[in-house]
Amino acid sequence: MRYPAAMIILGIETSCDDTAAAVVTDRGERRILANIVHTQLDEHSPYGGVVPEIAARAHLELLDPLIRRALEEAEIGFDALDGVAFTGGPGLIGGVIVGTMAAKAIALVHDLPLLAVNHLEGHALTARLTDDVAFPYLLLLVSGGHCQLLIVEGVGRYRRLGTTIDDAAGEAFDKSAKLLGLGYPGGPQIERAAAGGNATRFALPRPMKGRAGCDFSFSGLKTAVRLAVERLGGTGALTPQDVADLAAALQAAIAEAVVDRTSRAIDRFRSEHPAGRTLVVAGGVAANTALRQQLATLAAGAGLAFVAPPLGLCTDNAAMIAWAGLERLRLGLTDGLDFAPRPRWPLDPEAAQAIGAGVKA
Ligand code: KG4
Ligand code: ZN
Repeated sequence: MRYPAAMIILGIETSCDDTAAAVVTDRGERRILANIVHTQLDEHSPYGGVVPEIAARAHLELLDPLIRRALEEAEIGFDALDGVAFTGGPGLIGGVIVGTMAAKAIALVHDLPLLAVNHLEGHALTARLTDDVAFPYLLLLVSGGHCQLLIVEGVGRYRRLGTTIDDAAGEAFDKSAKLLGLGYPGGPQIERAAAGGNATRFALPRPMKGRAGCDFSFSGLKTAVRLAVERLGGTGALTPQDVADLAAALQAAIAEAVVDRTSRAIDRFRSEHPAGRTLVVAGGVAANTALRQQLATLAAGAGLAFVAPPLGLCTDNAAMIAWAGLERLRLGLTDGLDFAPRPRWPLDPEAAQAIGAGVKA
């Protein structure tokens, strides 16, 4: 089968707590024709975190009208599409199943190529949609579910240099925010609180700093925040200044740890790919201004261009899934209607195996 030289792709994202649909094209130029995200904040915030069953039910209710709205915004019908891309994993399986079934139904009814996209691949390739970044590049993926350093060598060709051995960076923000009595999601709230804080009042650890390799660890940091809160008399006893100072200390510790790991990854990237030119950051935590600034400085010092997609494309969205699907379709990498949703799906299976079962995909 031959595929058109320029395409319009529908993307569907349902792997966590965002229900999203988008339409992306490379006709003429790379463009997002529609990008709708419904963040299930009201659904989950009473619980201080994402509840998988509630997420799956909400995806089921929200997705069909959202897809219809995305097509309306793009001013096209199903007949104009060249393919349908969806997040096939990794993620909360109930939600992934909802997106997979919707995509399969559309592909079947409208006789379209089906494109199962790894959620992480969506984040990984976003910089090519926004900035046309050439392969190979070094990617730092920092989100609520993932914390990885990868060399992106091509579509479907990812080499993992490091990952977290426990929590993701976003989890450290979210769990610490809960300890500080701040709402969910914690990252933006910590950033806001940190603006009025003194980062040196509390000495928090810089996990893994100076260690060989590029792996991350954040659970010790969360414990250190918990101990500091307990010493102050517990969450209820914290003054606004305590919260601000702890938030500032936490943000500084996470940024310093991430920058240290990334600087090691840059050394490896440059020795293996002397022609590589770019450091890309993706994932929700990349929305953090302090972290972005420090990474920009690090990249500049290493002679690399620094690319951070706009905030709305750093956090979960379906434009990134549509774009990854488009890149896959260009190469003829389609999937069958028998594709099975995957709760775990490492981008680099070799690295995932080498490091052991305890590490998140
Ligand atoms: O990529 P994303 O939307 O979803 C996942 O795939 O996880 O990332 C969400 C994560 C949450 O943990 C949230 O607290 C964090 O990104 N986050 C931030 C900021 N904005 C979102 N962390 C730190 N600073 C921010 N400004
Ligand atoms: Zn994500």
